[in-house]
Parts: sequence; C-alpha cells; structure tokens
Amino acid sequence: MARGGSVFRCTDCGAEQPKWGGRCEACGAWNTLVEEAVGRTGGRADRKGATPSGSPPVRLSALGAGPGVERWQTGLREFDFVLGGGIVPGSVVLVGGEPGIGKSTLLLQCAARLEQAGVPTLYVSGEESPDQIRLRAERLAVDAGAVHVLGETRLEAIMYHAHALGVRVVLVDSIQTTYTDELEGAPGNVGQVRECAARLMRFAKEAGPAVLLVGHVTKGGGIAGPKTLEHIVDTVLYFEGESTLDHRILRAVKNRFGSVDEIGVFEMTGAGLEPVADPAAAFLAGRTTGVSGSAVTALMEGTRPLLVEIQALATNSGFGTPQRVATGLDHRRLAVLLAVLERRGGLPFGERDVFVNVTGGVRLVEPSTDLAVVAALVSSVHDRPLPADAVFLGEVGLGGEIRPVAAVERRLGEAARQGFRRVFLSARSRVSLPGLDLVGMDGIGELARRLAA
Ligand code: TYD
Ligand code: MG
Repeated sequence: MARGGSVFRCTDCGAEQPKWGGRCEACGAWNTLVEEAVGRTGGRADRKGATPSGSPPVRLSALGAGPGVERWQTGLREFDFVLGGGIVPGSVVLVGGEPGIGKSTLLLQCAARLEQAGVPTLYVSGEESPDQIRLRAERLAVDAGAVHVLGETRLEAIMYHAHALGVRVVLVDSIQTTYTDELEGAPGNVGQVRECAARLMRFAKEAGPAVLLVGHVTKGGGIAGPKTLEHIVDTVLYFEGESTLDHRILRAVKNRFGSVDEIGVFEMTGAGLEPVADPAAAFLAGRTTGVSGSAVTALMEGTRPLLVEIQALATNSGFGTPQRVATGLDHRRLAVLLAVLERRGGLPFGERDVFVNVTGGVRLVEPSTDLAVVAALVSSVHDRPLPADAVFLGEVGLGGEIRPVAAVERRLGEAARQGFRRVFLSARSRVSLPGLDLVGMDGIGELARRLAA
C-alpha cells in the first residue's frame, strides 16, 4: 500500500513506519497510522548552508550574572506564575486541553492584557472568525479592542502577517487547524501538526516573537494529539477541570523557563477567567462540616500546598459484587487501601459499596493522601464525623503502617494558615509547629481506634 515518497505515522505516539498496518508497531495502538508525504520537507529546505549563522560558542563563565531572562507579564497572575514569571520572548508555549475547557478564552484574555501592557499581539484563529472573536470579547467584557485578529489557517500567511505587523506575541488557535503548503495532507494530520509546530518554533527563535499554540486533546486520540509536540516546544501547559465545575487548573508539564508541576487556579465567570485569589484554599470552599466521611488533606502541586476534601461513602450493598467508584483517585489505589483497612484495621468492606470523591475536580496522585482517604472511609463506616479542624497527612503501606510525607512543613504551614488545628500524621514525621496539635501514629489500626473512641 505504501507509495514512493510517503511514510505512515502513528497519531498517538508519533512513530514512523514504512508501511501501513492496522496496529502501530511502536505503541501497539490500533487504527492510528496515517499516511504522510515525505520528500518536500520544509524543514530541510530552508536550513542554511554550511556557512555558520548566529552567534559563536561562548564559555558559560563569559556570560556573567546578567539580568536573567526577560519576560512579558500578562497580569493574569496565575498564568504568569505557571509560566515561571511571564512569557519569554522567542519561546513557544503549547496550551493543551479538551474542547470547551476555555483555551480560546484564556488566550484572548492574555492577548488583551498583553496589548494593554504595550506588547503588540496577534491572535490567529482557524476555528472562529474575527467577528465571532469580537462577539466573545464583548460577551465576556474583555477589553481586546487593540488586539490584531486574523482568521487564517495557512502557516505561511500567519508568519507573513506576524512578521509584517511586527508583533511580539503570536497566538495560534489551534495547531490542529493550521497547515503548511510544504506538506500534503489535511490540517490536523500528525505530520502537518508536527511540521507547523517545528516551523513556528524556528520562526520564534529567529524572529523573536513568542508563540502560544492551542492544542486540542481528545480522549479518543483520533486526531494528532499535542503529546507528539511536547518535545518540540519549550513549555507545555495543560488546562483542565471538570466541565461542570467552575474551577480550571492550568498545569505546567514541561517548562524550559520555569519549574514543572506548578499549577494556576482560575475561576470561570461570566466575565471570563479570573485568577483565584487564594488557590490553596479554593478547593475547600464549599466544604460541609459535621458530616461523616469527609477528610481534609494537603497536597503539593509543584511548590504550592493545596488543601482538598476527600469524601467517602460506604453503604451496605445489596446482592452481587459490591461497587467501588472513585472520582479523582485511581481505583486501584482505592482497592489497595480498602484491602489494607480490612486486614490491618479490622474493618470489613466485602459487603459494602464504596464511593470516594475528591471535591473540586482535583486528582490525587501522591500517596501522601492515603491517610485522608482511609480516615474518610473509617468515618463513613462508623457514621461519625471527623474533627472539623483536622488534617490527615500520610502514606499508607501494605502492612498498614503510616509513612511520613515530603514537604511536611509546607503542608502544615498552609493547614495552620487556613485555621486547622490538629494534624494526624506518621509518628516518624520529624516536625513541630506552634499552634498545631500533632497526632503521630504508627499504623492505621491506631487511627481506627482513635476515631472510634
Ligand atoms: P472556549 O474558550 O471556547 O473553550 P476552548 O477554546 O477550550 O474550546 O470556552 C468554552 C465556552 O465557555 C465559550 O462559549 C465561552 C465560555 N466561557 C465563559 O463564559 N467564561 C469563562 O470564563 C470561560 C473560560 C469560558
Ligand atoms: Mg477554542
């Protein structure tokens, strides 16, 4: 099936294969290979010859201390924070997220803020017409009047206009609708997406504007995912959240100019995205106290501590296999904790349905939240509320032992700031903080006894 001059690329992992097949040999995904033309690779064509260009090599010591990297601030505090302090000239940032999560809104607000700060900005949309963009700006009362907008999907035209206008920041919404004349194949095809991103990267490095790209992430993986672009660009941010909730989290998963795993928290309002004033407390906002099955823990998101509520409900099941439903938590982790609670804590779950939910659309990835999940489960089984001023911090091992967590001072400091007074944690944690009553425990048997007492 392979014709001369084409290869097949997997839309999931980006691997290249000489012939078509139903399954990608690299990642094993089915029906993901698409044909891609080779030969006229624009990448090679506009590379300079053997004559060296740009600056010669220098010793690091010769560079001196210097003022560091220049940055343009958007003034959208959480956005600047996640980037590491603002947009770096000449950098390429990919903003990925599911359709409808708010990527276009975020970028339009950034464009408006940048213009207001005196940084000329071009907003290119291949998804909406300039009129639609104007209507959105009006509806959300975003003052974007000074922003140049362009409805265009051809890469060459986008770069031409960006250059002609002399803008400092170019926003491309989205990389999946952009195509280059240099390659055959429809926009959104993984070859097109990668080539356009690579060309924009070179454009940014040579001409100096920063480029922000929107990339749609689809669960099905049918179209080229931003995953295949992650190694090309400088910074990768994912915009996430539950579509039913008002909070949106912007997460840095790669950053050549800042730290990764930082998050920014926004609230979706009728007037666009608002940076949340106190991100560490944002997720505890609608917490109900005095109800059983609710426990609070402190996670670390990058350098920031974040307090979240974990809710558990354990009820006697009818017939058949009991249900296990976990939202915001890996169901296998829940299964492990239930097994440990049963064997080491003497609480049977064999005939109980168990539901665990992390509020605010937050996902638990650290094992440091184990103890809070366990405490919420114990509280639900006994139908006894946990103390409202208590925070639970600890990893739970298969032997039921409670292990200390990293960055414990930061977490405790945040808990204290938000008015919590009691912390249940591993007896091996070496920490003390005035104003906090620390309850050290060795195992979950002890936790179960304390909570039952
Ligand atoms: P949009 O930015 O178009 O999402 P994406 O580009 O990721 O597909 O946002 C989806 C819709 O939500 C859009 O109609 C605008 C609306 N919206 C608000 O009303 N307020 C907000 O704060 C945000 C982020 C979006
Ligand atoms: Mg959009």
